[in-house]
Amino acid sequence: MSISIPRGTQDILPEEVELWQQIETKARELCRNYQYQEIRTPIFEHTELFLRGVGDTTDIVQKEMYTFEDRGGRSITLRPEGTAPVVRAFVEKKMFGQAQQPVKLYYMGPMFRYERPQAGRFRQFVQFGIEALGSTDPAIDAEVISLAMNLYKEMGLKKLKLIINSLGDQESRKAHREALVNHFKPRIGEFCHDCQTRLEKNPLRILDCKQDRDHELMKTAPSILDYLNDESKAYFEKVKQYLTQLDIPFEVDAKLVRGLDYYNHTTFEIMSDVEGFGAISTLCGGGRYNGLVEEIGGPNTAGIGFALSIERFIAALKAEGIEPNVGEGIDCYLAAIGQEAKDYTVGLLQQLRLAGFSAERDYLDRKIKAQFKAADRLKAKYVATLGEEELKNNKISVKNMATGEQTELALDAFVEQFLKLHG
Ligand code: HAM
Repeated sequence: MSISIPRGTQDILPEEVELWQQIETKARELCRNYQYQEIRTPIFEHTELFLRGVGDTTDIVQKEMYTFEDRGGRSITLRPEGTAPVVRAFVEKKMFGQAQQPVKLYYMGPMFRYERPQAGRFRQFVQFGIEALGSTDPAIDAEVISLAMNLYKEMGLKKLKLIINSLGDQESRKAHREALVNHFKPRIGEFCHDCQTRLEKNPLRILDCKQDRDHELMKTAPSILDYLNDESKAYFEKVKQYLTQLDIPFEVDAKLVRGLDYYNHTTFEIMSDVEGFGAISTLCGGGRYNGLVEEIGGPNTAGIGFALSIERFIAALKAEGIEPNVGEGIDCYLAAIGQEAKDYTVGLLQQLRLAGFSAERDYLDRKIKAQFKAADRLKAKYVATLGEEELKNNKISVKNMATGEQTELALDAFVEQFLKLHG
């Protein structure tokens, strides 16, 4: 019996990897321009980190974590997201004491959530995310959002919708929380079991419930924007002002609460606006989390960031009909006739490669015609042919595959002369 791939995971085959690499390269380039530095944290962490960081009333913690006991009896969890691990590292490595502040970090790697697989929803997916720690300047909120928007735009996406909201500071959230409890309490019996426990622990989570989303009380629930205190309002106004200054259109949606507990002030999501994209149209999500560093055991430090998955990024590119740049052809294919010439190409191939050229030869003992076909498949720019005659005369004939032009080069100075030819 053959063994199949686990549900909710996928193999990224070489022809698709190219597009992945283009996105990854663009993301790294932008991070360099915006001055975010890469951080790599472990794939697994102590379960406690996510209980405290992500929040024990969230779907992620309650239903979606890959948690197991290791052989030492510790509870370990495959990371479902990157923010809590980055904050853990920030606290543990005392990055708050670094001279360079704010600390601006990015990460790229697999995350794991035991979700019901469907289009755009995987159990293993790759997130690219950034986190800026140590600044409460609303300009950095705008910077974080603009990095995500520009990454999508630079890859060619046009149909994007940015939705923002503010959850306010602690005081505003508290006032809103009370209003929510008063709103839902009289009829909480009509809600699902999860919502009933959320009412006291975390009523904001009720607004994010998939099961009860059509209940009439959801539509009339008190809006956070009506509970923002003056400071929170002013902060949100500044973020909006900067976004406008950066020419980034946005919509405010007071119902955007996000699925993780650590947020306050700015929250945002970027959606694909392409018709027929599918039910899951959120490409990127993020927000401010001013209390998280303290929650994880560090000093009071502000933070903001986002994460997006490459899988949904690629789905959006496909939905907008954006084709990746097709793979570049190789520089040189070494065709050989006869055993002696074939033996000779082993060394020649290495010289080409070490000189920085992409080069290939035949490994299937093919006839010369079939070798040329293989060169075509590899989109070779040049084919160099070596036979008995050439070997005897210290020559090698090189064909420019675009123009058909043939040149003879000296075999013992081949790489040098090829460099001049090919540039
Ligand atoms: P999140 O909204 O849970 O936020 O996930 C962010 C993004 O990850 C989503 O918008 C989506 O692109 C992708 N994503 C999530 N789950 C899946 C899945 N099952 N399959 C494919 N893609 C998925 C966070 O993770 C926060 N840590 C973001 C953040 C960073 N907030 C502040 N800093």
